Amino acid sequence: MKGLILAGGTGSRLRPITHTSAKQLVPIANKPILFYGIEHMAAAGIKRIGIVVGVDAAAEEIVQTVGDGSQFGVEVTYIRQDAPLGLAHCVLIARDFLGDDDFVMYLGDNMLQQDLRTFVESFEAQRNRQPSLHEDDVRPPAAQILLAHVDDPRQFGVAALDPGGDVVQLVEKPKDPPSDLALVGVYLFDRHIHDAVRAIQPSWRGELEITDAIQWLLDHGHRVVHEVLQGWWIDTGKKDPLLHCNRLVVDTLERRVDGVVDERSRVDGRVVVEAGARLENSVVRGPAIIGAGTRLVDTYVGPYTSIGSNCELVDAEIEHSVVLSDSRIVGVHRIHDSLLGREVEVVKSDVRPRAIRLMLGDHSRAELE
Ligand code: DAU
Repeated sequence: MKGLILAGGTGSRLRPITHTSAKQLVPIANKPILFYGIEHMAAAGIKRIGIVVGVDAAAEEIVQTVGDGSQFGVEVTYIRQDAPLGLAHCVLIARDFLGDDDFVMYLGDNMLQQDLRTFVESFEAQRNRQPSLHEDDVRPPAAQILLAHVDDPRQFGVAALDPGGDVVQLVEKPKDPPSDLALVGVYLFDRHIHDAVRAIQPSWRGELEITDAIQWLLDHGHRVVHEVLQGWWIDTGKKDPLLHCNRLVVDTLERRVDGVVDERSRVDGRVVVEAGARLENSVVRGPAIIGAGTRLVDTYVGPYTSIGSNCELVDAEIEHSVVLSDSRIVGVHRIHDSLLGREVEVVKSDVRPRAIRLMLGDHSRAELE
């Protein structure tokens, strides 16, 4: 079994953060989203992973950060995609890497609570078992998909099931969904998917859709089985789902204080203070994480907050927010529900006239009280 992680695409919904950085590297609890997917695969025993990346600066950043995969105990091969032509296009260009092996495909901007092991094991078990004579359908599955009940299925690929639980129809972002079961970004395939991705045509949005490829498998007599997701799943591509996901993950942190907390500071509850971080007359109320080399002075960091490495917060109050590395917040209180990129400065100014002075990049957003 091999792994294929899709980390190309444009990241348009997380601009401006993704103007300079790959959306799959945006941190959740100070760890890039992509790392969680790689770790899930490694834990499921998958040692050979292909990562589809684009040809831009974001792709270079992914290659630099993930490297050859040895930090995760896996071997990573990069597959370059010239343009984001669709999820099935990723399978098409990964053909040499995948060969005829079964593989698990994982969308690099998705976060799942459920680990991959049971999902992979159940596919392997179904493919290897000897069917009994009394079974209606003795075909081994060519694909297994993971589904979740969602409120608005129109934003996703959607599956319809027969009474026995087999998948009978799949549609991508339908106006009139056949069910409320959305495709989560995890798929298992055998070699037949290669015939499918070669046979389908681009959709109305100009992409080769993996949903259409799986529908092709169904139309050509293959069996597609499913599992319903246990636990949470978040497509982290926008600010609010990202903050929500950060909240869920920091909630699972074990308390660890490796940095310096001076005698006037307090660290309450499940808080990680990385080595090299320093708290001076500050309060951190967990769950929260403070990155290495970050300095808090006269500051309050409230629950569900991740502060990246090498930041400086002086006379600041912040909660339910994610701050990336090398940023500064000085003299500003009540920052809530916010996502700040790298090397961002938010500072109070005494310059007259008293006014709000902004320098925001393209696609930035500021909400003022
Ligand atoms: O999040 C689940 C949904 O993901 C499924 O329900 C849909 O059926 C599936 O098509 C997909 O929909 P999205 O429109 O949300 O996919 P998105 O364009 O966000 O791409 C998902 C990941 O794949 C993301 O990490 C970028 C990467 N990607 C995407 C495309 C289109 C590539 O690497 N190459 C591509 O060409």
